[in-house]
Amino acid sequence: MDRFNITYRGWEPKQQKQREAICTLGNGYIATRGAAEESGNNGVNYPGTYLAGGYNRAKTNISGETIENEDFVNFPNWLCLSFRGEGGEWLDLSKFKILYYKQTLKMKIGVLERDFRVEDDQGRRSHILSRRMVSMRDKNLACLTWTFTPENWGGKVEFLSALDGNVTNDNVVRYRDLESHHLNPCATNQIDEDSISLLVRTKQSRITMAQAASTRIYLREKQLKPVIETRQKEGYVAQVLQLDVKEGQRYTLEKTVAVFTSRDRAISEPLLEAEKTIKRTGRFREILLRHTEAYERLWHRADMEIVEDDRNQRLLRLHIFHILQTVSYNIIGYDVGVPSRGLHGEAYRGHIFWDELYIFPYLNLRFPEITRSLLMYRYYRIDEARFAAIKAGKKGAMYPWQSGSNGREESQVIHLNPNSGRWIPDNTYLQRHINSAIAYNIWSYFLATDDQQFLSFFGAEMFLSIASFWGSMVIYNHEKGHYEIHGVVGPDEYHTSYPGSDKPGLKNNAYTNVMAAWVMQKAIEILGLIEKSRKREILKELAIGDEEIALWADISRKMYVPFINSHIIAQFEGYEKLEEFPWGKYRKKYKDIHRLDRVLENEGDSPNNYKASKQADVLMLFYLFSRNQVYEIFKKLGHEFTEEMIVKNIEYYRSRTSHGSTLSRVVFSWIHLKYDKKKSWDNFKKVLVSDFEDIQGGTTPEGIHLGAMAGSLDLVQRGFLGIEVGETALWINPYILEKLKKITLKVEYRRHWISISIDDKKLKVSFEEGWKNKVKIGVIDQIYEFKQGEIREFSLEKESY
Ligand code: BGC
Repeated sequence: MDRFNITYRGWEPKQQKQREAICTLGNGYIATRGAAEESGNNGVNYPGTYLAGGYNRAKTNISGETIENEDFVNFPNWLCLSFRGEGGEWLDLSKFKILYYKQTLKMKIGVLERDFRVEDDQGRRSHILSRRMVSMRDKNLACLTWTFTPENWGGKVEFLSALDGNVTNDNVVRYRDLESHHLNPCATNQIDEDSISLLVRTKQSRITMAQAASTRIYLREKQLKPVIETRQKEGYVAQVLQLDVKEGQRYTLEKTVAVFTSRDRAISEPLLEAEKTIKRTGRFREILLRHTEAYERLWHRADMEIVEDDRNQRLLRLHIFHILQTVSYNIIGYDVGVPSRGLHGEAYRGHIFWDELYIFPYLNLRFPEITRSLLMYRYYRIDEARFAAIKAGKKGAMYPWQSGSNGREESQVIHLNPNSGRWIPDNTYLQRHINSAIAYNIWSYFLATDDQQFLSFFGAEMFLSIASFWGSMVIYNHEKGHYEIHGVVGPDEYHTSYPGSDKPGLKNNAYTNVMAAWVMQKAIEILGLIEKSRKREILKELAIGDEEIALWADISRKMYVPFINSHIIAQFEGYEKLEEFPWGKYRKKYKDIHRLDRVLENEGDSPNNYKASKQADVLMLFYLFSRNQVYEIFKKLGHEFTEEMIVKNIEYYRSRTSHGSTLSRVVFSWIHLKYDKKKSWDNFKKVLVSDFEDIQGGTTPEGIHLGAMAGSLDLVQRGFLGIEVGETALWINPYILEKLKKITLKVEYRRHWISISIDDKKLKVSFEEGWKNKVKIGVIDQIYEFKQGEIREFSLEKESY
């Protein structure tokens, strides 16, 4: 059981925001940071509540320029719960004496527990056991309960239970100059004796959120009758419950909150639904039972067990847990994407980037229904992407680098360098490679599920529109006889223009070019897969003629890939001319050079001048494609690629990468797997602690890094276990490291559930259940046909490799 718990001992104000992110509870629909319920936003505590898809746009004047940002709104704080003894102060951990403090995130059942004993200034000691959940089963319900014991005193006590809509977006210090007031208060209400409600609306997007709360006190099974006073002011409603308590008695206080928004389905109006629901709900334990049953079902599908050590097991589960807090069955059909920083904080404003590329491989093999819904988020925004393409003078669909509510480009125009205090232009929006990531995700989802309906309808339309976009992005170089792509930025965001140039964008980013060539090739293949009538229909609709398809075929053979020499791919054209970066000097000078862009800008310099990357760029190719696929793609492009070249490229870029993005370590662990086990393991360990230890120095309090979290799980399944979704079978080609003694997990492959367990001696595969009687599973280099219920074991003694 302990392998499912994250425990913090002692109250550490400096660690609070970090713990809040790690202890966030959510259900895909809403999430609330693991903040202390008794305090508001007070510098130490930051109780953020976020709604999936809950964005609002606001304008700010910065240095004479008006900029507009779409923010991830911090919605009303429903946690507020406090107490005071007669004549004393309200509970405040910065003022009370803390006798004992322990906080446990119970991931198996999705409960956050705070167990603490405090003494107020009159020497009154109280013990509080606080438990909360955001129901996974009843997505509109959240509950908080206190077991309150006055240890050495008795007498009058007041409990304060509130809904606080007077909150702003204040989680990210860098954003503080920007408009942060997103909510308009609309109404407060006392529903009945022990229940209240609050209604707010976002200022621009007009999302209405209603919260209704009931607060009840019990002694053993008996509901008590405290004296209740309701207080209301604009945007805030509270109830003060006054009671006479006896020394040593255990009182149970239950606060249940119903949350509804105008984004919900099957509702009349949010306030009506919230008030109706709060009247219907039962006790904490009843809601908890349904909630834990939902978790049981989720863990049955989601878990990965490793028998290596407890800590790593816990961290893997923490990563699974936070994927489930951010996206769960509750999001299906809800028109939301997967925000890179979860529903856990305000960094990157809840925007959706390319991080899906790291997240979907885990979801595809367990919760494909969720991936489908997340892909539909892209589909619903295809018209905006079409408009963006037209505006840029291109064809097809050009998806934005950062996406939010309606799919327009949400990247910041300028961003603040906290090191220098300067606002600088942000040209990272030129990462057009996001389009290939979407295409890659469509294809991977299809391979894992064989969902032909999705592919031929939504998937093909998006895929072909992206192919059309690339077809219109390329420039044919007549002299050299190849295609080029100009004016882009690769995954490495440190390079956005050439040294000294004020024109944003680079020429021929190798990753972008190769991915575009892959899209071309796959687009043609997809045309061969979908039904003839659908093919005719879609080509007509998208105005794609034979000539364009012939162009795609040509591009897939003649796309330019820059090389520094016969072995090393240049990250982009001209990369070789950049200066080498003096890593040693900077590592000595600064404690942390992850964010080299900020360090250099502060010095009046720029990473554009150096061979220094924020994250894997060229090396992404070896992460996304197997060795054989890499050989094939390059062969098509006229290059003989060898294993020796892969190794040389890894070495070259390894020493030139600062890992300024947590995603980078995922890629490095993967690509080292076959060539340097130690480096692979070291990078894997870094990925495991990315958020738990906040390795980027202060970013986790602003939200977890979902891409790295899911990436760690994919490293276990696709990397160490070697699970590859092939076109004809599910392949298992284990590459278990000595450090991981045993792995057990389940995957869903094309509607078949397959259980896999492995240790250094044997691999056990069982086809548990599925839609068909047989499934093809390839082990090492041979395909086997498994019947339902069949279990087979394969020896993995070294000589069998
Ligand atoms: C990385 C991007 C990533 C984004 C959101 C940035 O720091 O460079 O690759 O998509 O964070 O996670």
